[in-house]
Amino acid sequence: ERDGYEHYMLKEINEQPKALDRTIRGRIQDDGSVSLSSFPLGAFADVSDVQFVACGTSHHAALYAREHLVEQGVPAYAFRAGEYATTPAPIGENTLVVAVTQSGETADTLQSVRHAREAGARTLAVTNVVGSTAARECDDALFIRAGPEIGVAATKTFSSQVAALSLLGERIVEDVTGSPSEGHAERAAAFRRLPTDVQRVLEESPVDRLADEYRGCDAYFFIGRGVGHPVALEGALKFKEITYEHAEGFGSAQLKHGPLALVTEDTPVVAVFDGRHQGKALANVEEVRARGAPVIAIGGEGSREVRELADEFLPVPDTHPDATGVLANVQLQLVSYHVADLLGRAIDKPRNLAKSVTVE
Ligand code: M6R
Repeated sequence: ERDGYEHYMLKEINEQPKALDRTIRGRIQDDGSVSLSSFPLGAFADVSDVQFVACGTSHHAALYAREHLVEQGVPAYAFRAGEYATTPAPIGENTLVVAVTQSGETADTLQSVRHAREAGARTLAVTNVVGSTAARECDDALFIRAGPEIGVAATKTFSSQVAALSLLGERIVEDVTGSPSEGHAERAAAFRRLPTDVQRVLEESPVDRLADEYRGCDAYFFIGRGVGHPVALEGALKFKEITYEHAEGFGSAQLKHGPLALVTEDTPVVAVFDGRHQGKALANVEEVRARGAPVIAIGGEGSREVRELADEFLPVPDTHPDATGVLANVQLQLVSYHVADLLGRAIDKPRNLAKSVTVE
């Protein structure tokens, strides 16, 4: 069942090229245009703003998707469903509420959807499970087609969520602004290349050899800008979830406002570079290096400055920034997996956690 892999998590990490291929198959045309059968051109023409509601890894995928919408001028917000369920955001006449949930059964997310429906919002589920409660209760559904995920730690479903949300986002941008997003063809091409690019990361990642070096530190910090920010949050979540080591993720811009006080030689900092905001991102790494922290950087293989600044460099194929984040996240999945494996953790069933959280 695990196809010879020691854990479902490793199997599912390795399934990502296939999962991504299924997610995007038939949904991107040769000219880069998006084709989503349930959402033809104009399907979102009257949308005024987008509110994502989601938990955990799915929330990080929502934050990732939000970047593109906002950058292209569509008002978009990504809420943690647990908080939205108690303090919902105001819903306008044309607000679209998008529930991002792998299982489609997360209680907080369902509660948020129910609130949104009552307030009159149009609701859309982005989920992996056909026939799930979210798919049934929302007005529409977009399936990410990642295939079943058994490991408690979400891996392939994050990648597929990001890819599916990027297509949905492109359709929304086109409908709301009246034209495709700037550089949409290059972006679409990068998403089409993702299965191949992820395969390369999986084959060439040096992570299994590195994991031992940074074992037993005080804490682990993950930072990033742009889509590197949600990826940093996701890297830290996965790390704490399966290694039980203390890990925190935050936007690089937050460093000076508190977290920097914790940075020492004994707190490795993992920095995610998405290829944008390079100057500022490099400056943040200088700040943590000046406090003696070992820096593990992840970025496009061609970025010489990043490579030179870091103690360890985990390269990913050079591509569009919106695809770089997915590739960087694959390296982070491998970091968490290999460290947890060295520590002998119950990788597929971490303590105190369930695959699907069906209570509020
Ligand atoms: O099924 P969902 O996507 O709604 O689940 C949301 C979270 O519970 C889930 O992503 C959780 O954070 C994972 N265990 C993370 O690996």
